[in-house]
Amino acid sequence: MKPNIAILGATGAVGQEFLRILNERNTPVGSLRLLASARSAGTKIEFRGQTLAVEEVGPRSFDGVHIALFSAGASSSKQWAPAAIEAGARVVDNSSAFRMDPAVPLVIPEVNPAAIGSARLIANPNCSTIIMNVPVWPLHKANRVRRMVIATYQAASGAGYQAMRELENQARDILAGRPAVPKVLPHQAAFNVFSHNSAVGEDGYNVEESKMIHETRKIFGDDAIAITATCVRVPVLRAHSEAINITFEEPIGADGVRRLLSSAPGVRIVDDRANNYFPMPIEASGKDDVLVGRIRQDVSQPDGRGIDLFVSGDQLRKGAALNALQIAELMIGKSL
Ligand SMILES: NC(=O)c1ccc[n+]([C@@H]2O[C@H](COP(=O)([O-])OP(=O)(O)OC[C@H]3O[C@@H](n4cnc5c(N)ncnc54)[C@H](OP(=O)(O)O)[C@@H]3O)[C@@H](O)[C@H]2O)c1
Repeated sequence: MKPNIAILGATGAVGQEFLRILNERNTPVGSLRLLASARSAGTKIEFRGQTLAVEEVGPRSFDGVHIALFSAGASSSKQWAPAAIEAGARVVDNSSAFRMDPAVPLVIPEVNPAAIGSARLIANPNCSTIIMNVPVWPLHKANRVRRMVIATYQAASGAGYQAMRELENQARDILAGRPAVPKVLPHQAAFNVFSHNSAVGEDGYNVEESKMIHETRKIFGDDAIAITATCVRVPVLRAHSEAINITFEEPIGADGVRRLLSSAPGVRIVDDRANNYFPMPIEASGKDDVLVGRIRQDVSQPDGRGIDLFVSGDQLRKGAALNALQIAELMIGKSL
């Protein structure tokens, strides 16, 4: 079967990554419908030798569609997911619209593929949450995680295509002696770091941090895990990095962690102490695997239950488009 696919948000950073991955994986595609807002309707996009025109999403956009991949923000997802499901499509949604809805599975295929069941709507988790949990899950299965403390180093493209362009333009401007004027992100992105640009709640946590906390508990099916996070934007074009400190239920050694991760799906160990060579976003960019390194015993926990990791993963791929396509493949019951 060659599924008919629709991509809502096809002109965006995640939408463009969907097209790249469909091509790379040589995924069989019946028809492909590229959807966005009126702003980019009529834009021409090449796909496998054909020129496709982007259409403004509308009530008939999902007729005959088997798989609808959504990456146009939460309000678009809320508006169009019911219509797509009504038209008979299965929807994988990259936005936050349905992630914490108890009726909607929140899925990382390496972690909880069985949660998909017969659902017609699946939520793709937050990108930082996916990148953290691809390596943490196999450890949690072996020795329950009791607490995690995370600091993120998040790329500009996590805030969309225009934010990535803004970082490039600001770097050019500053090097040419011109002022950098933030328009998309709230602060200067080039040669700077700033706290994640999502809203800050009354508890002092920004929305990205709260997503990492609550989504992890839902995906792992374990409400007892204690999690705290500090999410920060760094002047990187793509791929998020994270420093993760984990406290396990039982003592665990760095060698044991390395052994568990060496056979974990979606993980590549990059941990060369002698050459000070560890995960870097430029090496994670464009790759499917989450790179994991700096694997070491946390000396501040003398009972041997603490481990530190540093990870880098491409948030446009594993953190968004690739994870969603893997879900879509599972939803139709065989490899696309
Ligand atoms: N960037 C990431 O790393 C990442 C990771 C995980 C999840 N996500 C999520 O994925 C979604 C897309 O993110 P992105 O980074 O790809 O954003 P983006 O680069 O800004 O692209 C947004 C896309 O959505 C379309 N769109 C916006 N408003 C629309 C509307 N009212 N109706 C129809 N289409 C509309 C845009 O079309 P036009 O060209 O017509 O404006 C564009 O194709 C967001 O929900 C985001 O939270 C992003």
